[in-house]
Amino acid sequence: MEKFELDKSLADEIRARVMGDGFMKLVQSVRRNGKSFRISMRPVLIGGETRYQAEMNDEGQVRVKNFDAAGAAEGLEEIIAQKGARDLHLMTASGDLHVRVTRKGHVHVSRSAEMERVAKVQPHDRVKKLPLTSFDSSALLRVIGLSDGEGRVRASMRGKYDQVNEFLKVVEDVVGGERGTGNGERGTGNGEDFTVVDCGCGKAYLTLALYFFLTQVLKFPAVRVIGVNRREDVVAAARKMSQQLDVADKVTFAAADLSTFDIQQVTPNPRVDMVISLHACDTATDEALARGVEWGSRYIVSAPCCQHELQKTIGPQSDAAFAGVLRHGILRERLCDILTDSFRAMILRILGYRTQVVEFVSPDATARNILLRAETGARSGQAGAVSDYLNLRDYWHVTPWLETRLAARLDPFLKRFG
Ligand SMILES: C[S@@+](CC[C@H](N)C(=O)[O-])C[C@H]1O[C@@H](n2cnc3c(N)ncnc32)[C@H](O)[C@@H]1O
Repeated sequence: MEKFELDKSLADEIRARVMGDGFMKLVQSVRRNGKSFRISMRPVLIGGETRYQAEMNDEGQVRVKNFDAAGAAEGLEEIIAQKGARDLHLMTASGDLHVRVTRKGHVHVSRSAEMERVAKVQPHDRVKKLPLTSFDSSALLRVIGLSDGEGRVRASMRGKYDQVNEFLKVVEDVVGGERGTGNGERGTGNGEDFTVVDCGCGKAYLTLALYFFLTQVLKFPAVRVIGVNRREDVVAAARKMSQQLDVADKVTFAAADLSTFDIQQVTPNPRVDMVISLHACDTATDEALARGVEWGSRYIVSAPCCQHELQKTIGPQSDAAFAGVLRHGILRERLCDILTDSFRAMILRILGYRTQVVEFVSPDATARNILLRAETGARSGQAGAVSDYLNLRDYWHVTPWLETRLAARLDPFLKRFG
């Protein structure tokens, strides 16, 4: 028997468990030359028929394929014949089998006690229902550069792919009550476009993805998305992509600084339903929030980026007890991030937005994983919101950038309590 090879009786047991009744799931992780490859297989129901769904994860590149029984049996032979150190975990209704093959090729086998589990065959779309897999996004992903020519998400773009997916999930949650019916009726207006402005849209990954998500998945009948970025070259590239995707009349771009961007120049009807921003640098996030408020946008969804403004003004004079925190760059940065986002959320609350601060992607993916989601509909200037804000602001002896930016709207409320 060759090194790493499973003996015949063990291989037969695996075949019988996978191809027999009660099969639930098989997962094999292989490590070779410092790389890892994981394959899982489970029965799924497609069109009322049982199929075997294999999911291959090759260093973060995920591929899913469905097989009939003959195809699954063939694939299983490859799984059994794999070389290298590996772990195989096989679940069936009657119990589990674990096989571990060490780097030296030793095979260790363990079996759970007999049990009685119900092996349910799940509909095939139970997993992987990400916003970007909920519709045929292949052309979109290729054009915006998140996937390669073969439709695989590029390893280097995995972070952005995840961010866009997670952002879209939040959008879905936020506009949950507004879903279009697809036949012209919806909650936001009389057949008018649901208008979104993406502030600091950059290379338009989210801008374009959001358009397709709103129209194809959430079935909004009429959507307009406007991406704003101050860099001409970035905007030119974004425009080209919306042309390639044949949505240039619905997804448009403006090369402008957010602070001076005049929405009336790009749309005759300047009503904005949603303002979004994903990692718009520093005070560009504040500018996005301010524009959202000024345009009367019903929703504001914003994932802030780096924040430098408060770091310049906060100091031990703000609170001597924090001198030991503020001395260390990274702690100072984190503290200022938290305070800045707190001030932003509080200001939106004062201005009548119901506001939540949530984590939208894993902190492992990026430290910029906070997201503010806000919706109009609350009473402006509520005493609790104002006093919370003033207490924190005065404790730190700072004036947040957003307060200055929105002074005309905020001052009347702050004066009453100041
Ligand atoms: C970190 S990138 C993020 C881009 C995009 N939202 C994404 O997530 O891929 C931030 C973008 O905001 C743009 N930006 C920063 N400040 C801006 C401002 N004041 N007005 C317009 N665009 C701005 C930058 O040019 C940059 O392209």
